[in-house]
Amino acid sequence: MEVQIAVLPGDGIGPEIVAEAVKVLRAVERRFGHRFEMKEYPVGGAAYDLCGDCLPNETLAACKSADAILLGAVGGPKWDRLPVPQRPERRALLTLRSELGLFANLRPAKVWDALKGASPLKEEIVSAGIDMLIVRELTGGAYFGEKGRGDGGKSAYDVTPYSVHEIERVARVAFEAARCRRGHVTSVDKANVLETSRLWRETVTALHDAEYADMKLEHLYVDNAAMQLVRAPARFDVILTENMFGDILSDEASQITGSIGMLPSASVGASGGGLYEPIHGSAPDIAGQGIANPLATILSAAAMLRHAFGLGAEADAIEHAVASVLARGLRTADIADQGVASVSTAAMGDAVAEAVGVVI
Ligand code: IPM
Ligand code: MN
Repeated sequence: MEVQIAVLPGDGIGPEIVAEAVKVLRAVERRFGHRFEMKEYPVGGAAYDLCGDCLPNETLAACKSADAILLGAVGGPKWDRLPVPQRPERRALLTLRSELGLFANLRPAKVWDALKGASPLKEEIVSAGIDMLIVRELTGGAYFGEKGRGDGGKSAYDVTPYSVHEIERVARVAFEAARCRRGHVTSVDKANVLETSRLWRETVTALHDAEYADMKLEHLYVDNAAMQLVRAPARFDVILTENMFGDILSDEASQITGSIGMLPSASVGASGGGLYEPIHGSAPDIAGQGIANPLATILSAAAMLRHAFGLGAEADAIEHAVASVLARGLRTADIADQGVASVSTAAMGDAVAEAVGVVI
């Protein structure tokens, strides 16, 4: 297969972790005989420094025409003083999401066998099994609703609009995903307080009854869901929720798996191959030291092969390679037990690439 991948390293640890994912994709090319045309484009603060725009036209155009996008991370203190609309997170990330129509964000959170000890939860909770998929709505709600100031700056508002259409299309993604998993969707809202949540609940229920009655659907308030995530995470299969709740719950879910450095994500829309990125940020505090964990980005590349190109065996090869290097005891600093030696970002990438090349 011959495909074009737009590679957006971005800021902070972005370039370091993306380099390792590219290394692993090269190993997949060699082993399976594909051709991945990977071209890098500037994004985030790095692009701002280069040409005064965190999302240059050329980068956006390349993302639109590519078969899929692999992104590292954007942002950092250096660009925090820019006006909000020009900042890396707003201008690059949110614009990419909305311009490309990436309305569903898939964030799987699971505990890897070799990393059970890294979870801060008690062993009996972890051993019940943690393997969930958060499906977060990504182009609506308070992130994109009208915002502003009133009273001469003394009051502020962020409107949280949602339409039936927006809710239905992301709910469909969740039900379809549940069908390939354990058939259980937990829809998370705040229907006891918010009108948008009441519409959310009605719409998800109607879609379930009409098209997905064979799946199990339950509704949880977001405060309760946050509690259940640490109390009984094994009860979750697919969590479906709106933009802001999904942002918060996915960070929480990452911590119960041990490290945010392990969690990949896929952002998909009605058309196009989608955007793949780790859920963590640019971690400016450790940038340039070669100690960042590249596994979330490597696993995002695996998700890209599976979702954008239908290359399931190739994605499996990457995921097995990750499991095997973890089983051999390789750890970056964020997932290493105290007092245990850790390996560098590049050494971790080398090990995964090498394991991909090993045909079992
Ligand atoms: C994420 C990030 C972004 C978000 C920020 C950087 C705008 O936290 O992808 O989860 O809130 O969506
Ligand atoms: Mn977030």
